[in-house]
Amino acid sequence: MDKPLRLGIAGLGTVGIGVIKIIQRDAALISARAGRNIVISAVSARYPSKQRDVDLSRYSWEADPIKLAQRTDVDIFVELIGGADGVGKDSVEAAIAARKDVVTANKAMLAHHGQHLAEQAESGKTCIRFEAAVAGGIPVVKSLSEGLSANTVSRVMGVMNGTCNFILTRMEKAGLPYEQAFAEAHSLGYLESDPRLDIDGIDAGHKLALLAAIAFGTRPDFNNVDLEGIDQVSIEDIHAAADMGFKIKLLGVAQRTTCGLEQRMHPCLVPATSPLGQLDGGTNMIVIESSAAEQIVLSGPGAGEGPTASAVIGDVCDLARGLRMPVFGQSAKNLTAIEKSQSELPAPYYLRMSLLDKPGSLAKIAGILGENSVSIDRMRQKRHDSRSAPVIIVTHKATPAAIGEAIDQMSHSDTITDPPVAFRIEHV
Ligand code: HSE
Repeated sequence: MDKPLRLGIAGLGTVGIGVIKIIQRDAALISARAGRNIVISAVSARYPSKQRDVDLSRYSWEADPIKLAQRTDVDIFVELIGGADGVGKDSVEAAIAARKDVVTANKAMLAHHGQHLAEQAESGKTCIRFEAAVAGGIPVVKSLSEGLSANTVSRVMGVMNGTCNFILTRMEKAGLPYEQAFAEAHSLGYLESDPRLDIDGIDAGHKLALLAAIAFGTRPDFNNVDLEGIDQVSIEDIHAAADMGFKIKLLGVAQRTTCGLEQRMHPCLVPATSPLGQLDGGTNMIVIESSAAEQIVLSGPGAGEGPTASAVIGDVCDLARGLRMPVFGQSAKNLTAIEKSQSELPAPYYLRMSLLDKPGSLAKIAGILGENSVSIDRMRQKRHDSRSAPVIIVTHKATPAAIGEAIDQMSHSDTITDPPVAFRIEHV
């Protein structure tokens, strides 16, 4: 067996501790698969004296992760600190400068600085691997960049934030309003320390930007991901969507259009019977549609100690085997800048409005839709309360521009009480 491969692990939170536990528990299995012993030389954490349920006494400690990255007894720098900027990124840059390979779970850093870091790594002949940054234990980075190398990818989509999926599932299954489902996720410790990263779709948007770079050969570009969070999803919409045969999901979609690449992360309706519609709780699911392999669906735990540590160690094993891939599956020099495309691809839409109880109200709404070339597929009206009645419409395919114009005209009409709600419907 070759000489041991030595790790320096920066960041001893949930994932870092998970990596150490697995390496301690399954050393023989991992070494057999990697073809080399995998050992930990040194670790670094912000709070060294914090109680952790793993034996760390056999490792050297470094107070400064940059020093850890530069140590001569470290071959792979494992960055589990996080954050787009700051010490996580500084220590990765230090590792690359010191000609070390890097394994990271840092999606924010790569979504913002991935191109720059990939170029640095390439010129230093080092590797950066990031399976743990996207969808926890699901090997989606590997699937896209290796297993699907032969394919032209047409669309990558999926549920990439388990916390949002948990909240939406609790709203649907327990009939909880958004605020209560959010509080439940909070009390279970599911939310990021800044909950807006989850709720606003930022965390999931980072992941989408990374997958899009591999799938479409573009520079990772988080700033061109259109984001909309889940805090506007009401329990009324959850119920009404279910009534029409749909579920509401925080869905990421990346696809080529005639004028560029569309990247969006927003609440969408999906058929309740589709794989995405049946995805409950904190699970993630990625759907990849491509030229030869057709549709691939990957699902599993998108976060947590074991799944994310599994992804980190999988990357370490690949490096131990000598598998040296460019960061985004091809040379950083080939990656093209994204021509941002707003979605103009037509899709069916779900519309919900409160219609005033007076003659001609429904005719006016139908007229506005017709004038904007939006055709109604299905419609349901519930009983009126004292003033108005909820009306749910599912349209045939319409462009976002046409829907936007129709919504605007409806909002200015005298037939509805509040601005209508509109969600795109994605068929999988
Ligand atoms: N907060 C993320 C999630 C996990 O809920 O999926 C880390 O990306």
